[in-house]
Amino acid sequence: MQQLQRGFAVVTGASQGLGECMALELAARGFGIIAVARNRDGLDRVAEACGTLNGGRTRVIVADLADEAATHQAAEAVLSLGLPLEALVNNAGYAVWGRFPEQALDAHRSMLQVNMLAPVILTHRLLPALRQQPRSYLLNVGSMAGYAAVSTLAGYSGSKAFVRLWSRGLRQDLRGTGTTVTCVCPGTVLTGFTARAGMQALDQLAKKFGSTPQAVARSAVKAMLAGRPEVVPGVLDSLTARLMKLLPEALTEQVASSIYVKHLPRS
Ligand SMILES: NC(=O)c1ccc[n+]([C@@H]2O[C@H](COP(=O)([O-])OP(=O)(O)OC[C@H]3O[C@@H](n4cnc5c(N)ncnc54)[C@H](OP(=O)(O)O)[C@@H]3O)[C@@H](O)[C@H]2O)c1
Repeated sequence: MQQLQRGFAVVTGASQGLGECMALELAARGFGIIAVARNRDGLDRVAEACGTLNGGRTRVIVADLADEAATHQAAEAVLSLGLPLEALVNNAGYAVWGRFPEQALDAHRSMLQVNMLAPVILTHRLLPALRQQPRSYLLNVGSMAGYAAVSTLAGYSGSKAFVRLWSRGLRQDLRGTGTTVTCVCPGTVLTGFTARAGMQALDQLAKKFGSTPQAVARSAVKAMLAGRPEVVPGVLDSLTARLMKLLPEALTEQVASSIYVKHLPRS
């Protein structure tokens, strides 16, 4: 079947994991892909795979989104391609795991820059181009960790709570403009996330309850194209998220925190 040719989607954190799967999912649906991350080899590999799905309509931009100036440069690099932008997927992100005072301030700053400020900068810079299309999409990657304050992940869960609320507020700001905002809030996804955060102690648990990045990407892109405000992929995670909203906040925080604190290596 002939694939509908769509505009380009900028996907941050597209060198592996969920971002890689979202780039492939979008390419399979006819989007051109502009893949952004630091790891050029990973980006090239993903771009090649996307190219087999969308007729080679792929570009790669190497950028460190923990660096504010580099994030602005990445936005300029996207705009200078002069391609029709139809979607921006703010996916790049990671966690700093451990009790807040025991982690270096700079580690917290870099994570907050990647998880919160990079999406804000890229969205602000790319929105005028996105709005040139009659219909365009913003997809922000939050987390179920954003539904509860979590000990050992205080900065991370705070950053994902920001992503969720910012997405919903921005959606209101853009009402009636043809650009919709969707926030995907996954539970555990089987990617390089735990290794990057040094959370391997949670790997056994993750394997039991985690979702594949392919399934999460499919659900996220479907929700984005339907213009939904928020989605928690997977039946179990979606039910858990609903339960979290019903339970008293103190109880949710206690239960969520105990899972992570229990697995924290003793130093
Ligand atoms: N896995 C989970 O359980 C889970 C659950 C909920 C939400 N999430 C969210 O899902 C998103 C994707 O994570 P993942 O699970 O796919 O983890 P991952 O496999 O570790 O991938 C993270 C991606 O973010 C990019 N990234 C990290 N730091 C960056 C930086 N300074 N500049 C540019 N790109 C950077 C990485 O690219 P480079 O290293 O090449 O730069 C990589 O492509 C994140 O926002 C994460 O918070 C994950």
